[in-house]
Amino acid sequence: MTTFAYSSTPAHEVAAGVVIVPIFEGGVPGPGAKDTGTVDAYAAARLTGKTGETLVVPRRGGDGFVADAVMVVGVGPKGSFDLTAMRRALGKVAPAVRRFGSAATTFPLAFSAARAADAVQAAGEGLGLGAYRFDRYKTEVTDGADLGSVVLLGSPRWDARRMKAASSRAEVLVDAVSWARDLVNTPAGDLPPAKIADAAKAMAKDAGLACTIWNETRLAEQGFGGIIGVGKGSVNPPRLIELAYTGAGKAAPIALSGKGIAFDSGGLSIKDASGMETMKCDMGGAASILAAMKAIARLKPKVNVIAAIPCSENMPSGSAQKPGDVIRHYGGTTSEVLNTDAEGRLVLADALAYLVEKDPSCIVDTATLTGACMVALGTDVAGVLGNDDALARELVRAGRDEGEPLWQLPLHADYRRLIDSKVADIKNIGKRYAGAITAAWFLNEFVGDTPWAHLDIAGPAFSEHGNDLGPAGATGFPVRTLVRFVLDRA
Ligand code: BES
Ligand code: MN
Ligand code: ZN
Repeated sequence: MTTFAYSSTPAHEVAAGVVIVPIFEGGVPGPGAKDTGTVDAYAAARLTGKTGETLVVPRRGGDGFVADAVMVVGVGPKGSFDLTAMRRALGKVAPAVRRFGSAATTFPLAFSAARAADAVQAAGEGLGLGAYRFDRYKTEVTDGADLGSVVLLGSPRWDARRMKAASSRAEVLVDAVSWARDLVNTPAGDLPPAKIADAAKAMAKDAGLACTIWNETRLAEQGFGGIIGVGKGSVNPPRLIELAYTGAGKAAPIALSGKGIAFDSGGLSIKDASGMETMKCDMGGAASILAAMKAIARLKPKVNVIAAIPCSENMPSGSAQKPGDVIRHYGGTTSEVLNTDAEGRLVLADALAYLVEKDPSCIVDTATLTGACMVALGTDVAGVLGNDDALARELVRAGRDEGEPLWQLPLHADYRRLIDSKVADIKNIGKRYAGAITAAWFLNEFVGDTPWAHLDIAGPAFSEHGNDLGPAGATGFPVRTLVRFVLDRA
């Protein structure tokens, strides 16, 4: 785990393996560049401050300088340097920073006092997330060093207490996102629903959260027909995980849910081989909610939060649910399963109906729900749908602040009829078009009047090639957005 601290000492006095300083396009020195005496070396290397240019200047023993080295990082035009650009610039160099074992950075000083806390947090997030790697299954790890500690540098004029809180937020978030990534990156063969529940239980005990697990017997007894139906084909039985954080006495809680399909083969409506390659990621929604709860438990906002996370494995077999089957969800609504590969909505329906009984102030669910959402928004942007525009806007804003882009799609009223069923209350697929919207209409049946937002994270939950904030594989999207949303509400 990486630890994060805040300090307002000058860059040349910081004890760290490497001090990271920015230079803007045109060679314009960023904060700490002059103090570390690296502006000339950077120019001599024929570098001009373009995004992605880096130079490591050895410093050991020189000029009363404490750090071993300075890493000068080109960050592009000063005018477009914002929190997102900073996170990404630091994330991109983080793998090369790791080998120093510890780092400090002057990057937050590029921002005004008004934005200082957000800048400290974002700098920590960038370095911590960029340094993440998943090597549990490698027999040989060639690059052994880990980023043990990071010092985020700010101005003596900034409120040190607030900056320390921001740096510990970064620590909590990096830890939570890394855990979410680990859960998603773990092969489905090693993480069936029961193991996801075990991981949740262990986290809850550690973090001081209340935790209840439903096994398959209890789920069947209490009418969780969606979770049972999807899990029927697998030898690995389903689970429902409930977590509760109490930070505000008896106030109505924020309710969270996340799709926890341990593996999505499609079931009898089976996917082809390439469609299954990354389907261990189909519990990315569940992982994001578990991780958000972990972070919330550590940050202790004055608000109540509950989570109900349905976990099933979607497999074909002699005991699998069949196209045409009708299932009865928690609370009694029936649905006709015309395509067993549209399984996420079936398990979420039970969890949403269960959460409504708790009289929450709002419900937010996250799910790798539809390929259609990826067609609409690509791999970087998540879709937001729901019954409450103000809630959707709140989430879009939280996502913007965290550099996790969300875009609202319409729950267009006329498309509700696309999930009308001839035999049950609703059916689990629509027609060819607007798949992300018909999926959301399905979920909408289970939330009643409760303000609700659904995040379709099929695109951004898993990255085929990696990005500035992490390697290929799980991204941990949208853990940071969820936590910021909850903190903003407290
Ligand atoms: N888990 C998938 C959606 C998905 C696809 C997530 C690719 C991430 C990457 C989901 O369960 C699914 O199979 N959806 C179907 C729905 C269809 C059968 C109505 C889809 O999108 O094709
Ligand atoms: Mn599916
Ligand atoms: Zn799925």
